[in-house]
Amino acid sequence: MPDASLLTSLFPEEVVTRALVRDVELPDGAGTMALITLDNGLDHTRPSTFGPAGLLALNDALDAVATRTDIAAVGVTGKPFIFAVGADLSGAPLIAARDEALTIARLGHAVFRRLGELSVPSFAFVNGAALGGGLELALHCSYRTISSGVTAAAFTECFLGLLPGWGGTYLLPRLIGPRNALTVIVENPLSQNRMLRAAQAYSLGIADAMFEPADFLAESLRWAARVLTGSAVVTRAVPAGGWDTVSWDQSVADARLFADGKLHGAAPAPYRAIDLVAAARGRTRDEGFAAEDEALADLLLSEELRAGLYAFDLTQKRARHAAGAPEESLARPVTKIGVVGAGLMAAQIALLFARRLEVPVVLTDLDQARLDAGLGHVRAEVARLRDRGRISADAAARLTALVTGSLTRDAFADADFVIEAVFEEMAVKQRVLAEVEAVVRPDCVLATNTSSLSVTEMASGLAHPSRVVGFHLFNPVAMMPLVEVVRGAATDDATAATALAVGARAKKNCVLVKDAPAFVVNRLLTRFLGEILACVDEGTPFEVAEHAPDSLGLPMSPFFLLQLVGPAVALHVGETLATAYPDRFAVSPKLRALVAAGKTAVYRPDLTVDESVADMLAGGDRPSTAEEVRERALEALAEEIRLMLDEGVVAGPEDIDLCMILGAAWPFHLGGITPYLDRAGIAEKVTGTRFHP
Ligand SMILES: NC(=O)c1ccc[n+]([C@@H]2O[C@H](COP(=O)([O-])OP(=O)(O)OC[C@H]3O[C@@H](n4cnc5c(N)ncnc54)[C@H](O)[C@@H]3O)[C@@H](O)[C@H]2O)c1
Repeated sequence: MPDASLLTSLFPEEVVTRALVRDVELPDGAGTMALITLDNGLDHTRPSTFGPAGLLALNDALDAVATRTDIAAVGVTGKPFIFAVGADLSGAPLIAARDEALTIARLGHAVFRRLGELSVPSFAFVNGAALGGGLELALHCSYRTISSGVTAAAFTECFLGLLPGWGGTYLLPRLIGPRNALTVIVENPLSQNRMLRAAQAYSLGIADAMFEPADFLAESLRWAARVLTGSAVVTRAVPAGGWDTVSWDQSVADARLFADGKLHGAAPAPYRAIDLVAAARGRTRDEGFAAEDEALADLLLSEELRAGLYAFDLTQKRARHAAGAPEESLARPVTKIGVVGAGLMAAQIALLFARRLEVPVVLTDLDQARLDAGLGHVRAEVARLRDRGRISADAAARLTALVTGSLTRDAFADADFVIEAVFEEMAVKQRVLAEVEAVVRPDCVLATNTSSLSVTEMASGLAHPSRVVGFHLFNPVAMMPLVEVVRGAATDDATAATALAVGARAKKNCVLVKDAPAFVVNRLLTRFLGEILACVDEGTPFEVAEHAPDSLGLPMSPFFLLQLVGPAVALHVGETLATAYPDRFAVSPKLRALVAAGKTAVYRPDLTVDESVADMLAGGDRPSTAEEVRERALEALAEEIRLMLDEGVVAGPEDIDLCMILGAAWPFHLGGITPYLDRAGIAEKVTGTRFHP
């Protein structure tokens, strides 16, 4: 057993997961099972994890059962709703020495592998969430059952910058085959950290049996008894002669292609995981685990993991309590909502509020046809959710009834919160807000979904500008977790608190932003894209510019982003920013030409480039190399972020990163962006200082 004393100072905050052992008499005369329950003593919102003390506690429990001759089997299960969610990562940022990192890796192996090396069979009864090391613990057991209620079984490590290195990369491919294992280990975490539901884990062969949550443990024990007495036979996917080399190698090659497509080599963890799976077929258990130890130790010391842990912490903590937020108690109750405009955003916003806040929502628009189109969108979406089994028929009927339409503003008279999502034009928005103010109560909050216009200016002509707030949701509304809550110069605390409370009830993460052109995400994406388009305007070939940022591992190429936002919208935001900051933002002549020609897409549906667009982007006599384009775009970002922080647009670089992670899906391995700009030396070069000391 590795000497864990090296680690104790690194994990002062470890919530120790205890391993409580009790004897259970199995039915059918199958004997006694020593059943270990993993429980950190807190409720399900604080899931059990394994730090050094937790691993040692499990080791003690295994000491106690390993020598017993009176038991037929050992079982492991979790506290309500949770099996175990993996390693305690609280100490990971403090690990500075390779021997500390290696010790953590070895300790996990040393303890978990005992479950597969007892003199009696072991059973994991996966009653709830099983992530990372939790799932690995189950894999070390001889057999597994899973509750059909489990919604989160996954190896999330590669998403964070680690890999399943407590046995996962060795055991899983040998159990379910390399292709499915690589889906779980690499593809899912790189696909917005997708997780498996119980039925998927069962059909992949990760679990041998699945039972209903209500009597999960009792059924699992009955099943274990049948396995022990030989009346239940466990079949596995493993082919009789073992997994063949050809399909193993092909699966590995496919996974590398997949990782390249997503990351272009930008983060090491998924590649290390693929290498380990590639080699797992020909390794002994000792060799496989030793290779995992080395890989884990390397990654535990990597900058990408540090950025990943920083990003994870932001999304777990700062995202739930916006920095600089006024007292929550100032928020006013919201029991009815009005939405002005029934277009693309408004219809999605109406559905979000009805679904999450479960309050009546009234939509309005200029005429009956547009209103009907908006309501039609809501109904179609509700029907889709129902047909996919995401909501019950009753809930669908309730939701449909909650969203109504009206062509007169009187329907807003008793609303507590009215949000406008009309055309992005200052004069239109000012007029709409004034009309709404004329009918609502004095304490009704007036919100705007503007993506770039000044909230202060929009509110300036109103009787009560203090009740106006920006509430910038992103498209598609149901998927994008961020709301930029924008305080105008006059916005009062109660209004900001109400907007934040509405955002939280809508299950969104809010960042509080000062009123500044295009706020955070659009300003930074526009600056980034603007520099790349400027290079194209100067003569950089499209293909060079397109791939210039590849090595950052961003979620999409700059021109995909342009297509997603829509060239016309991008131009509009660009113009707003160029007016506000003419020294740094310019409107690209080639973009202007694309919009004038009515081009709405850069790529065809088959993802090839539309040649007519490529032709319009050609021309110019000062081409840059890909590296020059990337550097220029990153330096511009560093400059812009520094200016935003100096302007007080957000409370700190953490909020910039949170916005980029949640609003633009920028990756964890960059930490959003500021940790990367620091570590690449770009922040220091451009601004003379780092974002994080
Ligand atoms: N489209 C996006 O991706 C996106 C993302 C975030 C924010 N936004 C912002 O949301 C707002 C709406 O954008 P959209 O894409 O939904 O536009 P849209 O054109 O789809 O919808 C706007 C709707 O407002 C209606 N409208 C215009 N004037 C009105 C008035 N006086 N009274 C009532 N209704 C009126 C129009 O008839 C139209 O149905 C804009 O401010 C935009 O910047 C858009």
